[in-house]
Amino acid sequence: MSLPYNFSPGPAMLPPEVLDQVRADLPEWHWHGVGQGASVMEVSHRGKAFEALIAEAEQDLRDLLAIPANYRVIFMQGGAWGQFAAVPMNLLRPGETADYLVSGGWSKSAVGEAAKFGAVNVLASSESDGYTSVPARNTWKSTWTENGVQTTAGQSLQPPSYIYACSNETVYGNEIHTLPRDLPAPLVIDASSHFLSRPMDVAACGLIYAGAQKNIGPAGVTIVIVRDDLLDRAPMTIPSVFHYKHMAANKSLFNTPPVFSIYVTALTLKWIKAQGGLAEMECRAIARSALLYDTLDASQLFKAPVARTDRSRMNVVFDSGNADTDAAFVAFCDARGLKSLKGHRVRGGMRASLYNAMPLSGVEALVTAVREFEATHSR
Ligand SMILES: Cc1ncc(COP(=O)(O)O)c(C=O)c1O
Repeated sequence: MSLPYNFSPGPAMLPPEVLDQVRADLPEWHWHGVGQGASVMEVSHRGKAFEALIAEAEQDLRDLLAIPANYRVIFMQGGAWGQFAAVPMNLLRPGETADYLVSGGWSKSAVGEAAKFGAVNVLASSESDGYTSVPARNTWKSTWTENGVQTTAGQSLQPPSYIYACSNETVYGNEIHTLPRDLPAPLVIDASSHFLSRPMDVAACGLIYAGAQKNIGPAGVTIVIVRDDLLDRAPMTIPSVFHYKHMAANKSLFNTPPVFSIYVTALTLKWIKAQGGLAEMECRAIARSALLYDTLDASQLFKAPVARTDRSRMNVVFDSGNADTDAAFVAFCDARGLKSLKGHRVRGGMRASLYNAMPLSGVEALVTAVREFEATHSR
């Protein structure tokens, strides 16, 4: 693959092979070689071909992530913001709290949404250091002791309904590299921006969700992986489309699903498998991000502010400390076909999103641009 390279944080680039297949399936979708008489956007989601596609997508996802049998896979709508609400609606029990680790803007937004449904406790936040790290475990203000229930002044404090974290903060570029296994409540993970970029410890989590539009498909579908025993928590008063048990019981076909997004996601899952699965995705992610971080660490002009142990392999955030220089660098890159490097509006600077579909050659081109720009600009 060659220029232009698209570093967009999402919606983001898809593998060229997937786009070729989409093109080939227009105007007529072929499912395992059998023409369906129309494109995938024009056939019923209740038809045999689409039902088979969604079942196969689920199986491919189960194979890739080694999802244990006691977890359901649900294809939902409403994006990650929908899950900010769906999680507390389904899992936050009356009279209990939900504990949130805040490592960036997305987990902070999730707190705000959850607070509409019940009591929220912020375990720890790295906001005061500009989210340049994930709050360390020994800084968490938990309502439980490490061995279960805490008693303070005769008062017994119960573990929360669940413990929530965002495993890759897209805007500030930090990532949780190892999920804790010793928590007293189900761990809920927003994995949107590094989903399927690495193997994942599904069994460490009660629930994982991810919007598709970064690593695996177009916007529109949100994948939820939820442990069976959590399905019975939700009251029937919550909306059907956000009710995990209801959606799982209907195999994600309760109402009309985002058919095109699911179809492209299904193709991407097959692409990941064909490339060698998640171990291969992880090797590539390490190679891409290490090349860029090493270059930034050696730079006199730019710096990558996130603590080394917490750096994201997917979203590399960096800046020069000068907004005019950053803007000039973004324009310099844009002119040479390196697109969408401007940082998020709340963060500024630059952000290079290096999802699964980004070839190493894209990062090599960016690294060359960093060096050439630096040679002509001083701090
Ligand atoms: C980690 C993370 N969580 C949540 C969201 C919000 O996703 P959506 O716009 O699909 O609701 C984003 C969007 O970029 C994200 O990166």
